Amino acid sequence: MAAVPVRVRGIGAYVPKRVLTNHDLEQMVDTTDEWIVTRTGIKERHMAADGEAASDLAYAAACQVLERTGVRPEEIDFIVVATVTGDMQFPSVACLVQNRLGAKAAAAVDVAAGCTGFLYAFHLARGLIASGVQKRALVVGAECLSRMLDWSDRATCVLLGDGAGAVILEAAEDGVEGVLSSHLGSDGGLWDLLYFPGGGSRNPTTHETVDQGLHFFKMNGQATFKQACGVMERACQQALEEAGVTLDQIDLVVPHQANLRILNQLAERMGIPEGKMAVTIDRYGNTSAASVPMALNDYYQEGHLKSGDLVLIVSFGAGLTWGAAVFRWS
Ligand code: UT7
Repeated sequence: MAAVPVRVRGIGAYVPKRVLTNHDLEQMVDTTDEWIVTRTGIKERHMAADGEAASDLAYAAACQVLERTGVRPEEIDFIVVATVTGDMQFPSVACLVQNRLGAKAAAAVDVAAGCTGFLYAFHLARGLIASGVQKRALVVGAECLSRMLDWSDRATCVLLGDGAGAVILEAAEDGVEGVLSSHLGSDGGLWDLLYFPGGGSRNPTTHETVDQGLHFFKMNGQATFKQACGVMERACQQALEEAGVTLDQIDLVVPHQANLRILNQLAERMGIPEGKMAVTIDRYGNTSAASVPMALNDYYQEGHLKSGDLVLIVSFGAGLTWGAAVFRWS
């Protein structure tokens, strides 16, 4: 069976209104704006409002992409949400979004691949559509990381932010292939670089697990940093090769926004010219699975994308996982 051509149709995002600046953080922990900016590139991040959860952010991003594309909820047959900060252990954020959208024809599931989650969700949706099993997917990255942080730990609380982004992937009716490649990888031997130990079946929630601080995001920052460039560079090369294009044909590279120093190293190693790489870490911090679609959305809104442009998206994150994809903006 010949693969069905798949295209990306539109982008949407949602950024929570509340802004937390580095100067706000100076009042909360022993840090400085200067340290955060020079070590990470982050100036501010957005925080979900009290009572706002991942599915609220995901729903808002989904509404924007539906409105922009004119796709009706009942025309979606698959919803996949990449998140590690779902509203609850279960059901999935995808089911909560499906219900609010009234997307009655859609199957719905979450995927957990840390900051690479959006690439995993994208790859799954692409495969299902290419194989003819599904026709149109809503692919969302949504995170409420502010709820998972130890706000007295300066090593982690300054890094992360909340938000969501969403795209529609669909069978291309004109027969023109829009998604040229998607490549994933993982190395579970590095699982303890980034993790959240409490509340699962290993450490079910007790007073003790709370007292021990197991319900907070844990990260070995330096070891993660060392992995970041290598895995993203290799993922990009694989995705470019699979797509049959070279980097100089790419119009925009949208990498996961974890640290400006990582982005600069990646650009230098790969030879990505200035202006061809999306950088939004200054305004949002690291929003995990939401960072790639949020950055794509900003660059779309700012007019950097025109029909036919080739986009390379790439990420790495907890697991350790990584992934990259090449698609044509339609
Ligand atoms: O998206 C998921 C993947 N995550 C990442 O990609 C994160 C990758 N890692 C990083 O981005 C960096 O490792 C960090 C930004 C997390 C840390 O930067 P670093 O340059 O690796 O700093 P460090 O951990 O080596 O710490 C250097 C110093 C330490 O003090 P001493 O021991 O030298 O006295 C830390 O205690 O900086 C101190 N420090 C801070 N100082 C002020 C750590 N956090 C802060 C802070 N403000 N917020």
